[in-house]
Amino acid sequence: MAKRRPLSYGEYLGLDELLDLQHLVSKPRQHDEVLFLIAHQAYELWFKLMLNELETAISHMLADNLAEATRLIRRVVPVQRVLIQQLEVLETIRPTDFLKFRSILHPASGFQSLQFRELEFISGLKDEKYLNLHIGNEMSYEQLLKRWEAPSLWDGFRTVMEERGFNVGRKEKGKEEANYELEVEAILKIFTESKYSHVAELAEVMMEYDKYFWLWRQHHIAMVERVIGSRPGTGEKIIEKTMGPTSFRPSGVDYLQTTLGKRFFPALWAARTRIGAY
Ligand code: HEM
Repeated sequence: MAKRRPLSYGEYLGLDELLDLQHLVSKPRQHDEVLFLIAHQAYELWFKLMLNELETAISHMLADNLAEATRLIRRVVPVQRVLIQQLEVLETIRPTDFLKFRSILHPASGFQSLQFRELEFISGLKDEKYLNLHIGNEMSYEQLLKRWEAPSLWDGFRTVMEERGFNVGRKEKGKEEANYELEVEAILKIFTESKYSHVAELAEVMMEYDKYFWLWRQHHIAMVERVIGSRPGTGEKIIEKTMGPTSFRPSGVDYLQTTLGKRFFPALWAARTRIGAY
């Protein structure tokens, strides 16, 4: 039998393929496009890791294994901090240098990032408009549809609450408000009664995850405004197609501002207001 060649570092990591994936589009080659491209690729790798952790965390929640769910979501948080810090690298691109290759990127935009939407969907923020954006690309659509149909982190947390006897309502169209009220009431008990301390710990780490996602949105906007000001983004047309016609031509920053109110777990945040006396 032929002896197996010992595994090498490069083979294990698929480095030949990985390091051959930086296909610049600028002609003549623009120095800063390398940074721009690698930063985005690095983001997508981290997104892949986050999805892997969160998917398993959800299955632990559904199996009522709170310690493992908490541990895995807690792992995602330092990754999110890395993602925020990474924006600083992009901020070193001078507007004059970015403008040298930006126009060639049209209409490609981070707005189309499939894994970013998967992260939103897996967290419970499911907006059909973003799903429909991928109609026409069968593979992406199927991938996102799977996330749409699969239980989210919030579904997992609702199951955890139900396991402890809380009535958090049924998931039905039109019942969202009634359910939300029941969820907040249950969470209030979870945050304040010591017998639920393990659930409270899970809720805390979920808030941490939600907070860092929100902070990323804020830091990304600040970076965008610093680099391109209030110009329209490269995905302007796609945004209009996805979100519907707007009465004004929004700048990229205007669109991003509309996303700042998004939270994955609004009931966790709402419960904070109701803890204790005023
Ligand atoms: C110089 C660097 C960057 C600039 C100027 C920039 C600019 C923009 C703009 C203007 C938008 C709004 C959509 C549009 O008009 O196209 C946007 C959206 C977005 N960008 Fe960036 N971006 C940069 C880097 C990044 C990086 C590194 C990522 C990491 C994946 C990223 C991810 C996203 C995502 C996910 C959205 C959609 C957000 C949402 O819909 O909530 N961007 N970006």
